[in-house]
Amino acid sequence: MSYNLLKGKRGIIFGALDENSIAWKTAEKVHEQGGKFVLTNAPVAMRMGAIKELAEKTGAEIIPADATNIEDLENLIEKATEILGGKLDFVLHSIGMSVNVRKGKRYTDQNYDWTAKGWDVSAVSFHKTMQTLYKKDAMNEWGSIVALTYMAAQRVFPDYNDMADNKAYLESIARSFGYFFGTEKKVRVNTISQSPTPTTAGQGVKGFDGFIKYADEMSALGNATADECADYTLTLFSDLTKKVTLQNLFHDGGFSNMGVSQKVMSRFIEE
Ligand SMILES: NC(=O)c1ccc[n+]([C@@H]2O[C@H](COP(=O)([O-])OP(=O)(O)OC[C@H]3O[C@@H](n4cnc5c(N)ncnc54)[C@H](O)[C@@H]3O)[C@@H](O)[C@H]2O)c1
Repeated sequence: MSYNLLKGKRGIIFGALDENSIAWKTAEKVHEQGGKFVLTNAPVAMRMGAIKELAEKTGAEIIPADATNIEDLENLIEKATEILGGKLDFVLHSIGMSVNVRKGKRYTDQNYDWTAKGWDVSAVSFHKTMQTLYKKDAMNEWGSIVALTYMAAQRVFPDYNDMADNKAYLESIARSFGYFFGTEKKVRVNTISQSPTPTTAGQGVKGFDGFIKYADEMSALGNATADECADYTLTLFSDLTKKVTLQNLFHDGGFSNMGVSQKVMSRFIEE
């Protein structure tokens, strides 16, 4: 349902790969709420992706950018403000990738070139994006920047591998850059810590099926879906959350505060 919550707002959405992507669902919902945006993804992802279909559906233009490359980011931000006709009100960073996870390297046997690559893509790209926006003074006052994260930043999930460290770094960048963006430009910066979600990135994690079922049974409200994550993101892009900043916001059906649930417990009780 449209409340025109984002009418007149402009932004950039990173990371829509296919219709399962959290960024894809967010783009559809931002469009529904009257927001205008540019879609972006790594050039290599667009060659295999369906992003054109999303662009047509939402009246958005696509500007390829590798989020680890400053020149690409500068070009993206210059072109996006030109196309959209002014400074930006919202940015979604929905990017994650670990080469160690992809290639099945265990946490105790890292290839450090791959560790560095995953760190750059999954965490430092958020700093690079914000630094480029900041230097170009491309955000409007009371704008909102959101990145997606996972609770392995705080708790141990062994198969999440080096992505756990990348997410901890990402969340710290949100706080540190959020300070400068807040005090100097009145822009808010937050991370949303989402439930496990069946997407390309999510399913790359070993044992994902068991993992998602476990989380679902442990959560007071069950896992949050990609659609629900998109809804939550809309609220953070809207003017209804102007003083929410420097936060890591759990969107996980309560999982992060659970000790044990009756459903999980029942598996361990002998009849
Ligand atoms: N799926 C889950 O279980 C889950 C849970 C919590 C948080 N998240 C986070 O949500 C975000 C979105 O992931 P998703 O689950 O929608 O999966 P996804 O695979 O659909 O999206 C990941 C995106 O990152 C993009 N990307 C990779 N390298 C890039 C680069 N160099 N430059 C620009 N873009 C690049 C990919 O092309 C892809 O579009 C990620 O940060 C992920 O870690 C996912």
